Amino acid sequence: MIRQNISLKPYNTFGIEATASKFARFSSVNELKDILTETPDKEILILGGGSNVLFVKDTIDELVLLNEIKGFEVVEDNLDDVVVSAGAGEIWHEFVMKCIEKGFCGVENLSLIPGSVGASPMQNIGAYGVEIKDVFEKLEALHIQTGEIHTFTNKECEFGYRESVFKRKLKGQYVITQVYFRLKKQPNLNTSYGAIDTELAKMGIANPSVKDVSNAVISIRSSKLPNPKEIGNAGSFFKNPVVDQSVYQKIAQKYDSVPNYPAENGAVKLAAGWLIEQTGWKGKTKGHYGVHKLQALVLVNYGGATGAEIYDLSTEIIEKVKAEFGVTLEREVNIYL
Ligand code: EPU
Repeated sequence: MIRQNISLKPYNTFGIEATASKFARFSSVNELKDILTETPDKEILILGGGSNVLFVKDTIDELVLLNEIKGFEVVEDNLDDVVVSAGAGEIWHEFVMKCIEKGFCGVENLSLIPGSVGASPMQNIGAYGVEIKDVFEKLEALHIQTGEIHTFTNKECEFGYRESVFKRKLKGQYVITQVYFRLKKQPNLNTSYGAIDTELAKMGIANPSVKDVSNAVISIRSSKLPNPKEIGNAGSFFKNPVVDQSVYQKIAQKYDSVPNYPAENGAVKLAAGWLIEQTGWKGKTKGHYGVHKLQALVLVNYGGATGAEIYDLSTEIIEKVKAEFGVTLEREVNIYL
């Protein structure tokens, strides 16, 4: 059922006040189809956990749909691995916890990422050396124009760093309904990301289990990243920029401690949080919003900020970083201007 003039504040982790002129929720593909036949409207904004959006305009004119398709099922059980199917409306962290409970390995490094299962392939979520594309098998999505369900393989999703085909050429055309993951039955842990090993050592664990790695990740994330239930935020607001060697060399001449990671074709990935920190913005506030004090990549709403205020702050930061380093930061969060 489509309702009118619904506040979206409870549905975005930034806690921004915005109104959906038309709003509906669905918990099955059939309910979604019914909503779509009820309206000629094909301009749609799908919300999952609302953890990667910033509403800048006060009123959202697209039809806002809340995806609440639930479900967790082992659909293939092999000698070494399983394929798990999850409803797109499942909460990502709860999905990770269910996998760990069953002893399945592959998503533990992605513990505590806010958002829904359906949003995870959309932006190829990643943390601590793992990206969703490493465990992603396929997904099903409803084509909004025709109402047909299409299947997308890993390759067809065209995953990149915080990117997929659904953020680019198929943007706004599909509703992801079901996601399938191939997970290992035996631990095949990835603790290459330095902070995890350090955290495990602090916990006194030499031979970690899948659960131990998840606990280490939860502990690292909780120590650096604000809990959206307490402070409004959408995780990393910007992407880590990838720059040419020459740009990196120029920065390294001035700052010999600049964090850098090899990227494709000899390019270098820089840490946006570090760049922002050098401009002096880390921990700065403008009254009721600002830059998080422990991780400069995260913009925060302490309560009552408007989307426009947060957006203008992000523009100011982009300009500062550009002026200091000649690097243009790109926003990672989906902005509704
Ligand atoms: N750094 C600073 N100052 C800061 C923040 C970071 O100097 O305020 C430095 C750190 O010291 C480190 C480097 O920057 O040398 C990288 O920092 P960190 O390991 O915290 O990771 P990140 O690159 O800032 C990315 C992801 C996070 C993910 C972490 C861990 C992006 C945009 N962000 O952050 O993802 O949790 O790595 O893997 O790629 C998200 O996407 O919402 C998110 C939180």
